[in-house]
Amino acid sequence: MHDDLHAWWLPLAAAADLAPGRCLKAQHFEEALALWQGGADGPSAFDDRCPHRGASLSMGRVQDGVLECPYHGWRFAADGRCVKVPAVPEFQPPAAHAARTWQVLQRHGLLWVAGQAASDVEPFAPPPLDELPRKRVLCGPFDVATSAPRVVENFLDTAHFGFVHEGWLGARDHVDVPEYRVQADALGRPGVPLYRAWQPQASSAATGGAWVDYRYQVLSPLSALLQKRASAGDTDEAYVLWTSPTGRESCRAWFTIATSDEGADDATLRAFQQTIFAQDQPVLESQRPRELPLSGGEVHSAADRFSAAYRRWLRDIGFGHGCC
Ligand code: FES
Ligand SMILES: [Fe+2]
Repeated sequence: MHDDLHAWWLPLAAAADLAPGRCLKAQHFEEALALWQGGADGPSAFDDRCPHRGASLSMGRVQDGVLECPYHGWRFAADGRCVKVPAVPEFQPPAAHAARTWQVLQRHGLLWVAGQAASDVEPFAPPPLDELPRKRVLCGPFDVATSAPRVVENFLDTAHFGFVHEGWLGARDHVDVPEYRVQADALGRPGVPLYRAWQPQASSAATGGAWVDYRYQVLSPLSALLQKRASAGDTDEAYVLWTSPTGRESCRAWFTIATSDEGADDATLRAFQQTIFAQDQPVLESQRPRELPLSGGEVHSAADRFSAAYRRWLRDIGFGHGCC
């Protein structure tokens, strides 16, 4: 099941990027898709390959609620049916002329796409996250030239804060990683219930250094949650990383920021996350191999217990995409 890539729900685009009449090219693991919206029915996703002669449907145009192929103008309805072959106007296209469809659902401001046999069971499906603070801001996409598991592991890694995020999430005089405990949840996913870190500028709202209590939870092989609570302050913040592989060595990343500060400015929250990820990205893209090594090839220290647990869990559940 875990290596049936069609079964995975992946966030492929921001819902705000698709409006009636628009069509986008998207990528689900190794497969190219056309994501489009005809009218009020909501978005549709097709293989980006016309069943007629294989032209890219995402280059087509959306008109009168149907997607028209750019090559010979065959028209496809939202459910994939071919409704018109312009070269043979009287022809009633049979079911075999249909485009292959995928399922689409909207959650956290993102359009999630999966094959028709998709699972609605965690960790395959996007979690509701109802327990997080209500105010949510979507940040991204970030197109990253490395595998999705490398990006997830970086999100779980605290030993880089004082170096990569000096002055923001870490400081040179606080680079030691204190003892922490890795704990698996009911689904076996690793998490760290409590991690204390000294942070010079822990969030967009912080006005100075503070000890911050972190809670980490891996949500799926491709996503993870970080909850922060500053000891002295009263703002609860959470960051969810969503990654979506676009190949074995490339991915698209998004962040959902949730905060209990209802008045927080969206642009400020986004700018903070963009600053942090702009610090991560060059280092991430420098790592070799780009795939995450699950069986040897890299060495660990005691500070890496969490990332080692993430790798072990990927191996245990048989998730190998973007891993080596
Ligand atoms: S390739 Fe699409 S209509 Fe011919
Ligand atoms: Fe980082």
